[in-house]
Amino acid sequence: MARDGATYVCQSCGAAHPKWAGQCAACGAWNTLVEESQARPPGALAPTRGGKARGLAFEGFESLSPPPPRIATGVDEFDRVCGGGVVPGSAILLAGDPGVGKSTLLLQVCGEAARRGARCAYISGEEATEQIRARAHRMGLADAPVKLAAETALRDIVDGLKREAFDLVVIDSVQTLWSDAHEAGPGSVTQVRACAGELVRLAKRRGMAVILVGHVTKDGQIAGPRVVEHMVDAVLAFEGERGYPFRILRAAKNRFGATDEIGVFEMGDGGLAEVKNPSSLFLNDGGERAAGAAVFAGIEGSRPVLVEFQALVAPSVYGTPRRTVVGWDGGRLAMVMAVLEARCGLGFAARDVYLNVAGGLRISEPAADLAAAAALASSALDCALPQACVVFGEISLSGDIRPVSRTEIRLKEAAKLGFTRALAPGGSDDGAVAVTGVTRLTDAVRRIGDQAWD
Ligand code: TYD
Ligand code: MG
Repeated sequence: MARDGATYVCQSCGAAHPKWAGQCAACGAWNTLVEESQARPPGALAPTRGGKARGLAFEGFESLSPPPPRIATGVDEFDRVCGGGVVPGSAILLAGDPGVGKSTLLLQVCGEAARRGARCAYISGEEATEQIRARAHRMGLADAPVKLAAETALRDIVDGLKREAFDLVVIDSVQTLWSDAHEAGPGSVTQVRACAGELVRLAKRRGMAVILVGHVTKDGQIAGPRVVEHMVDAVLAFEGERGYPFRILRAAKNRFGATDEIGVFEMGDGGLAEVKNPSSLFLNDGGERAAGAAVFAGIEGSRPVLVEFQALVAPSVYGTPRRTVVGWDGGRLAMVMAVLEARCGLGFAARDVYLNVAGGLRISEPAADLAAAAALASSALDCALPQACVVFGEISLSGDIRPVSRTEIRLKEAAKLGFTRALAPGGSDDGAVAVTGVTRLTDAVRRIGDQAWD
């Protein structure tokens, strides 16, 4: 029975329930309901400050000093994803699978930033300081003036941060933190929420940037509560496909910049190397382009990225044919296949369809529709696209090919990498690349089947 004024709030989704239960009826999570008292007794309320609203340009605005400049850490790919450096006083959550390279990335960020004069601290609850030192040595960061600590008790961490001023503090990881103000164990929803909250408040008060590492659970959620995501100013996801050395950093939320930028890294013996020109990485160069392959000229954030779409359309041995897609949206694949079937007469009924984006990149641009369709048609008709051809364009349900943004940048990047031809929406600019303009998907499919490119 709930006492008067008490509700049970799910620590995962925030839904309020009148009674305790083992499972949250709203999000299905187990053991997340915690009693939270609703109303405080009248005498317990803190005095208010009147709740006065202010204009954007309030009095004395001119005399205010400009906001402190962003901290350029020197790891350019990281800085770009943050929106041009780390904002002082901000809190960032770096989320990723265990072993993807979060600690490596942040040690590198700390080391490079410290070399550029920022006061940096790296606090680890997972590794001993000797271990971190050995890793920094291997990464060529032995001389960087970073303060290291192996600590999990929140009170000790906070005391340390109050004693000494820092510009950038890394906490690796938020799941190992433990506050003695709460009884729950480290990694529990209550602990993670309380510890993250306290660190975020401290960061804002003292104008230091804090980066929290968060491990991701098997189903892709940031472990513990999603509430950490709401507390921080930016959520960065660090991803990588198993078996590939590439690691991709993207912003899932950013109060200080765009969320469509990606940073590309390559994991090697000496840590993570920045990849300034990702196109060359995701292309399978050398040899003839096989049937079923199409190079997509895409844009990730502000940069063009060329990547190969690979399709295989094969007779199915099962009653229900398989549709498998890696690196692209399954719903989008179903749509493109439906348009190919209905408007272009390409049948997939008794055939398995596999679509793969090479290199472990995940593409979400609608401009990739035509590249996927070209790869599918090329495999289904067993006709390869020309070796030096890029493809882009959005497909509508009526089978029209719609123009996409930033055509010029796409074509320029293609030309830079030695591509001489493009299959693209009609009206696209010509230049160093000969554009075969198409306005209908049927036209594109016919050209692939007939090898008619002029
Ligand atoms: P790590 O940063 O510890 O991952 P996380 O903190 O996300 O759990 O990285 C672990 C992996 O990175 C490990 O499998 C080894 C690899 N690695 C390298 O290949 N080269 C290196 O120089 C370093 C430091 C790590
Ligand atoms: Mg780690």
